[in-house]
Amino acid sequence: MTLKKNMHELEAQLSELSAQEGLALVADLFPGKVTFSTSLGQEDQVITLLIADAHLPISIFSLDTGRLFPETLDLLSRTEAKYKQNIKVYYPTTSSVENLVSEIGINGFYDSVENRKSCCFVRKVEPLRRALAGNDVWVTGLRAEQSANRSEMKRIEWDEGNQILKFNPLLDWTFDEMIAYISEKKIPYNPLHDKGFVSIGCAPCTRAIAEGEDARAGRWWWEDSKKECGLHSK
Ligand code: ADX
Ligand code: SF4
Repeated sequence: MTLKKNMHELEAQLSELSAQEGLALVADLFPGKVTFSTSLGQEDQVITLLIADAHLPISIFSLDTGRLFPETLDLLSRTEAKYKQNIKVYYPTTSSVENLVSEIGINGFYDSVENRKSCCFVRKVEPLRRALAGNDVWVTGLRAEQSANRSEMKRIEWDEGNQILKFNPLLDWTFDEMIAYISEKKIPYNPLHDKGFVSIGCAPCTRAIAEGEDARAGRWWWEDSKKECGLHSK
C-alpha cells in the first residue's frame, strides 16, 4: 500500500510545520482526496477556520447522528455562513436506524456497552465509512491531551479499518492554546461550552463536567469503558 509506505516520510515533514502549513501540504500532495470530519467541537472549529482562511481544497463533512444537540446543528449553520464553506452532512441509513431502535429501544444505549456500540456503529461509524470513501487523507481534530488513548496517537497515522491516512493537525495543541486561538480569531463555538460541556457528542450521551473532572468524563458517563465510540479506536 503506497499511501502507508509514504507515511514516515510525511510524518517527518509535518513535524516541522504548523497546523495550517501541514494542511496545505497534504492538500497539495493528495489533490481532491483530503477530507475533514467536523463534530463542530472547539478543535474542529479551529481547523475549519484554518482551511477556510487559506482557501485550502479540503472538503468538510459532519455526521448528523439524529441525536445531536440543537446547539450543534445551529453552529453548523452559522459556521457555513461565516466562512462561506460548505459542510456536507451525512446521515445514518434509515433502515439501519429503524432496525436498531426496534431491537434495543429508542434509548437502549444506556442498557449495555454492547447496545451503545451498536448505536454508535449505525449512527456514526457506518456513515463515516461512506464519507471517507474515495479519499486518501482523513483530517480530524484529535488532541493528545484529550485521553490516555489519544496521547499515544501520531500526527499522521494509518487507519486500518478505513484504509486511509489519518492526519491530526492539532495533536500537540494544549487546551489553553486552543481556547486562546478561538478567542483571538473570534471563532464561533457551541454555547454549551460556556455551560460546563467540554467534549460534546450526542445529547443523550453527553453531560457537563465539574471543575477538575477529566475532559471526556461527560461522554457516556454511566460507562466504565474506554470512552471511544469506534470512530477512533483501533
Ligand atoms: S468521539 O469519538 O468521542 O465521538 P470526539 O467528539 O472526541 O470523538 O471528536 C474527535 C474527532 O472526531 C473530531 O475532531 C472529528 O474530527 C471527529 N468526529 C467526532 N464526531 C463527529 C461527527 N459527529 N461528525 C464528524 N466528525 C466527528
Ligand atoms: Fe447513539 Fe449515544 Fe453513540 Fe450517539 S453517542 S450514536 S446516541 S450511543
